[in-house]
Amino acid sequence: MEDITALILDDHAAFRRGFARLDDARGEAALRAVWEPLALHLDIHAEAEEAILYPYLVRHGDPGAGEETDDAIGDHNKIRDAIAESKRHVPGTDGWWAAVWQARRENSEHLAEEEDGALADFRRNSSLELRAELGARWLTFYGEHPGGRDLTFQDKDPKAYVQEHR
Ligand SMILES: [Fe+2]
Ligand SMILES: [Fe+2]
Repeated sequence: MEDITALILDDHAAFRRGFARLDDARGEAALRAVWEPLALHLDIHAEAEEAILYPYLVRHGDPGAGEETDDAIGDHNKIRDAIAESKRHVPGTDGWWAAVWQARRENSEHLAEEEDGALADFRRNSSLELRAELGARWLTFYGEHPGGRDLTFQDKDPKAYVQEHR
């Protein structure tokens, strides 16, 4: 069985390693080779959480789950925006680094909040069976969207999202 919270933590660890790799990459081609797959993974991960984790949390989490979800969607938007901005620049230029650092800072802050807030809340309010069931859906989601196929990575209105899934 694959626990969705373990799969999410695996992705988070991959993000931290990816950003660290950027510190060692030199030159446009090397930076692009690290950043493009990392940015795509960040975007797919946020979509997967919005499709699978947060709808459950909004409905079954602690009383603060709506607010946690609102914060998370807002953070995902900031990370998406920074990734989109990075694509308007050539890797290694000042504008590119500014966008990538924006994504990195927003992501680091978001991972800490999500791990201590949303994921902890989810574990308190879900059975092992559900964690396995959502874990299977998580893997299926990645399988159905190889390279982000059919995903648009659009920002979502946090309040409307919470309302929709309540
Ligand atoms: Fe996450
Ligand atoms: Fe997230």
